[in-house]
Amino acid sequence: MTSASDVLLSVDGLDVDLPGRTGGRVTVLDDVSFDVPRGRVVGIVGESGSGKTMLLRALMGILPDGADREWRRVLLDGEDVTSSSRRLPAAMVFQDPMTSFNPLVRIGAHLTEVARRFQKVGRRQATALAREALAAVRIPDPGRVLSRYPHELSGGMRQRALIAMALLAQPELLLADEPTTALDATIQAQILALLRTLQAERSLTVLIVTHDLGVVAAVCDDVLVMKDGRFVESGEVDRVFREPRHPYTKELLDAAPDAPAELGAAATGDEGGTHA
Ligand SMILES: Nc1ncnc2c1ncn2[C@@H]1O[C@H](COP(=O)(O)OP(=O)(O)OP(=O)(O)O)[C@@H](O)[C@H]1O
Ligand SMILES: [Mg+2]
Repeated sequence: MTSASDVLLSVDGLDVDLPGRTGGRVTVLDDVSFDVPRGRVVGIVGESGSGKTMLLRALMGILPDGADREWRRVLLDGEDVTSSSRRLPAAMVFQDPMTSFNPLVRIGAHLTEVARRFQKVGRRQATALAREALAAVRIPDPGRVLSRYPHELSGGMRQRALIAMALLAQPELLLADEPTTALDATIQAQILALLRTLQAERSLTVLIVTHDLGVVAAVCDDVLVMKDGRFVESGEVDRVFREPRHPYTKELLDAAPDAPAELGAAATGDEGGTHA
């Protein structure tokens, strides 16, 4: 389907376990293997507790205290980085923008800190980069927003600012955990369209966790289906929605509010239309 050079990240045999609440260890990711094709928008779906957030956190190297991560092999751009201490070139947009921003710190300070840390620039240049990043996520009047506190922004604007902050880390891989769950339908569509646009403008590869198959149909090229800490199915959205191979994928599609046929149609619809 895709040649090796088209694969940005290839993970083989990822295990994550955590200390259990009643002692012992709990396996949250169990021998997970997957490829993330370069320049694609990939959805991860699966029920609550299946391990989607832990997967993103494992890739970011930000698992909870006491967590243990092991992988058999990780290739980045075909290069073996399994035992490298180098961070993956990834940035993450967390589920809840309100908890990702410190409420006492202005948007500008959040963004410039990331710019300084990841782009090794001074204060003045960091401010310029922060302004640019806000413009990139289509925030009107970036200068004004830099001086705002997180709670002074609308939900949609806050989510855009969060995406801007992630962009300042100059990722090749953008990880987004339920990026639109807290937003109403119109704003949700705008944020999804923005992610799609940023993917194209910046040649990003995007991994989106969502419980909403409508989101997958509207914005993703590929989908990974997770159940109990493993991927049970993966492929192009169109194929998976039209001809699900795993019974669990069928179950998810049957349970979706939109009939699978409609999801399939959305997945193959004209890009301009579905992504506008
Ligand atoms: N901080 C933690 N300490 C211990 N166990 C945790 C912790 N966070 C999550 N878990 C457990 O790890 C497993 C995977 O959780 P994870 O948060 O990745 O699920 P998820 O697929 O993101 O679910 P949701 O859709 O509800 O966000 C679950 O069994 C959960 O109870
Ligand atoms: Mg989660």
